[in-house]
Amino acid sequence: MLMEWAADYLSPYVSLNREEILRVMERPPKPDLGDAAFPCFALAKRLNRSPHEVAREVAEKLSHLGGEVRAEAVGAYVNLHFSPNAWAVRLLNNVLAPGFGTAEAGRGKRVVIDMSSPNIAKPFGVGHLRSTMIGNALANLYRASGYEVVTVNHLGDWGTQFGKLIAAFTRWGDRKTLECDPMRESLRLYVKFHEEAEEEPELEDEARYWFQKLEQGDEHAAALRRFFVDASLKEFNRVYSRLGVTFDYVLGESFYNDKMGPIIGLLEQQGLLEESDGAKIVRLDHLQLPPCIIMKSDGTTIYATRDLATAFYRTREMGADQLLYVVGAEQALHFKQVFAVLDALEEGWSARCEHVAFGLMKFGGKKMSTRKGKVVFLDDVLDEAVRQAEAVIEAKNPALQSRREAAEAVGIGAIVFGDLRNSRMLEIDFSLEDALRFEGDTGPYVQYAYARAVTLLEKGMAGTEEFDEPSPEALSGRLAWECLKQLAGYPDAIRLAVEQNEPSVLARYLLDTAKQFNRFYRHERILSTDREETHARLMLTAAVAGVLKNGLALLGVKAPRHI
Ligand code: ARG
Repeated sequence: MLMEWAADYLSPYVSLNREEILRVMERPPKPDLGDAAFPCFALAKRLNRSPHEVAREVAEKLSHLGGEVRAEAVGAYVNLHFSPNAWAVRLLNNVLAPGFGTAEAGRGKRVVIDMSSPNIAKPFGVGHLRSTMIGNALANLYRASGYEVVTVNHLGDWGTQFGKLIAAFTRWGDRKTLECDPMRESLRLYVKFHEEAEEEPELEDEARYWFQKLEQGDEHAAALRRFFVDASLKEFNRVYSRLGVTFDYVLGESFYNDKMGPIIGLLEQQGLLEESDGAKIVRLDHLQLPPCIIMKSDGTTIYATRDLATAFYRTREMGADQLLYVVGAEQALHFKQVFAVLDALEEGWSARCEHVAFGLMKFGGKKMSTRKGKVVFLDDVLDEAVRQAEAVIEAKNPALQSRREAAEAVGIGAIVFGDLRNSRMLEIDFSLEDALRFEGDTGPYVQYAYARAVTLLEKGMAGTEEFDEPSPEALSGRLAWECLKQLAGYPDAIRLAVEQNEPSVLARYLLDTAKQFNRFYRHERILSTDREETHARLMLTAAVAGVLKNGLALLGVKAPRHI
């Protein structure tokens, strides 16, 4: 907001338009350098003069502005100092206005987000948790930016793993055990299959046989598969409801079984399909990529084939302008291949597609492998987080009535925030203990700042219906002013998070906001006997609470009013 105002001041005096100015404007690295900085390099280059000279001249021209804004040339920069007395109330009113933090950038554009997408008959893994949370945050961020968002859970409900499961069940399974504890039993079968297959490779043939049967519509195989799907979905839905995540569509890979034919036909027609050892492939040598297998020698299709059909469906039937795939970085090659095949079919296709990749998350340095049965059950992790959060809350605030509810929000929020605060490509070694700290770069720290703001408002507003008109003097202290400027940066944080598909931008913004608010709260008294001052500072507190709550909600983190 300040940047926009600064640009308005500058534009009559520089030969750049408003957008060009905004593109180069910076926030000065230190508060005493002012509130907005205009680097003169581009302008100087255009004028063929020295940046220092240009900066001095521009500052000179702005000197008539008087008290509201003070311009000062420092090296190649023009630094603008806004007078808090003149601007604080305007800034505050802007932040408190309805719709603050929403934008129109995406108006008229539909983005389909592929997220979560766990595999049937396997536990909901940590990778799927990351995909769920990053995807959910992106969906909220895009919506706030005016996009029409369609979220799709691309369940792994088809593929050779069902051949393995059915083969394993046929050999070692029994219906009773499976019905009692389907998730653990199917994991046991899956792990046993991989163990035994090392000794007895024929098992793989059995698995292939069953998957082929499944693809041919065999009833026994189909019924077993259905059973696994239903049991898993029940389990997954429990996790989703705890995380507060919903999907517009849950369309598993099997949904595309009858939609691959036309795509294969298209590839054939355009002469892109080649035979290789009985399989059908598309060569991608020109991109230095291995060929994309479209159909295996036994006539079955693979993951990539289904992703081709999926991309077509999302574009043609769902009307997507943009396709995001929130999937682990280990699938980078797969998406490169799929997008390259799409491009081979139609120029420019892949420009609409983006693999929003993320790094591995480990727990206590351990990587997980479903095949070896090394899994952390997500539900157990969530339970543990809530249990620990409850203990901390009990110690901090023993009188709190809504302790259980707060603990659920803080425990789960700690995990979600602990994930989202990192740049998504980073590999994370997740420590529950660190994520749950109330002091530090954590979700609970932000949640606690929000709860503190709410408590202040409840105390300060007791018996009062409305705020008095805010007095500028009460907000002109350095920390109040810094806090206001921080709040004014909220729309930028959202815009950047969307531009980079990076929820961590918003998470870090919220941490900074909470820190800034805590500084203000500690050093500039909010509740005093001066009614006018108290009201102005409470209004700032309300603005902080609003931004923190809204921002946490975009990240998929609840903000309890009391902790
Ligand atoms: N189910 C897959 C897995 O767990 C992820 C699917 C991602 N989405 C996609 N369209 N391929 O590896």
